[in-house]
Amino acid sequence: MAKKLWGTRFSKITSALTDKFTSSIAFDQRLAKYDILGSMAHAKMLGKQRIIPAKDAQAIVKGLNSILKDVVSGKFKFDAGAEDIHSNIQELLVKKIGEPAFRLHTARSRNDQVALDIRMYLKSEIDELTENLTQLQRSILKFAKTNDKVIIPGYTHLQIAQAVLLSHHLLSYIEGLERDKTRLLDSKKRIDAMPLGACAFSGTGLPIDREQVRKELKFASLTANSIDSVSDRDFILEVLSVLTILSVHLSRIAEDLILWSTSEFNFIDIDFSFCTGSSIMPHKKNPDILELIRGSVGRIHGDLSSVMILMKGLPSSYNRDLQLDKPPLFDAVDTMKDILEIFTALFGNIVIEKEAIAAKVKDESLFSVDIVEYLIKKGVAYRKAHDIVGKMVIDCLDKGKKISGLTNEQLKKYSDKLGPDIRNILNAKASVELKSSYGSTNPKLVAKQINKWSKQL
Ligand code: ARG
Repeated sequence: MAKKLWGTRFSKITSALTDKFTSSIAFDQRLAKYDILGSMAHAKMLGKQRIIPAKDAQAIVKGLNSILKDVVSGKFKFDAGAEDIHSNIQELLVKKIGEPAFRLHTARSRNDQVALDIRMYLKSEIDELTENLTQLQRSILKFAKTNDKVIIPGYTHLQIAQAVLLSHHLLSYIEGLERDKTRLLDSKKRIDAMPLGACAFSGTGLPIDREQVRKELKFASLTANSIDSVSDRDFILEVLSVLTILSVHLSRIAEDLILWSTSEFNFIDIDFSFCTGSSIMPHKKNPDILELIRGSVGRIHGDLSSVMILMKGLPSSYNRDLQLDKPPLFDAVDTMKDILEIFTALFGNIVIEKEAIAAKVKDESLFSVDIVEYLIKKGVAYRKAHDIVGKMVIDCLDKGKKISGLTNEQLKKYSDKLGPDIRNILNAKASVELKSSYGSTNPKLVAKQINKWSKQL
């Protein structure tokens, strides 16, 4: 174990158990890049403010730069015995450049350092996540465009309901994902405040220039309260909440596709390259990817709960508990990136079972509301129209007979307003075309939405 940053004051060395239990290097090593960039900006500022000699600042920046190169190229060997990534890099710098390295930690604490590192990490990850989300939206949009004429039976309560364009259904996914993206970008605004300079928690008496560090590290603003700077991880909770909501959206999409791929629905076929088989049942072709996506909600929500409970009841300023925010945060971000990547690819590997779907949309119960609306347009009161169609359902649909098969006289028995033209609306195409409200499944309106998204994405 390397010498502790705080070791001198201790009359004994710490027990190996203490070292092992308190170390975070196993997981915070992924903050190395941000830790170094933060240190470089800090050292430059210390030099410029003449808090440390300019030549020492230069030596520190040079030394850190060479460590950074190793980190970026993957050559860097983390010291498994280090207390955390901050100590690891400090010690390495001492080995590399000697004396000047002892000045780096002037007017700084690991408390503001770690707050800075996570903020930098998250700003970069949010950029990646939003890009990945856009890729998924593009993939869904492409699938919608390829199948823009397909009409499917829509369901409420998982019972057959009304005919809708498949593309309309798919655009509903894109809408939700867009809100997730704006939520992520919105959370970034609150992350984009630079905490360095808070030091342990009360600030410093040395003449630091926080504004210079902010500019150098490209933060939008400075955190305004040193205690808040090292205390709060609400920005982590916010990102984890957004990722949880996003995962709920993704699990719903996954569930739709799982249902659609069953032989009972038979709306879609997922390519073999994105399915798995069974070790016992030779006929199986399972949608495991989609099930794992659906299952990941539990994992990501668990990460949120973990940090939420970690934060609850913590007293103000820095507490070591905060070290434990990182594993769940990293887990949620990594899991989500994996999901977005594979979901994007999967959408390019689904084909629509057009004939099977066309057979299903012949079910005339899909058009019951269209008949009600036909009668309303002819002056019949809504409740009466609902009753009339209810009777037709009992006599025809419930018995497996078609309403379109009724003679003109039989139709008249239900209502004298039911003319022979009713037969023209008893098909899926007419049904979607009859819808006209903004946001509905009307093909012209859906085409406009597809156009809008094609430009936007
Ligand atoms: N490993 C710690 C964390 O992740 C770094 C800060 C430790 N600060 C301290 N005073 N022990 O939160």
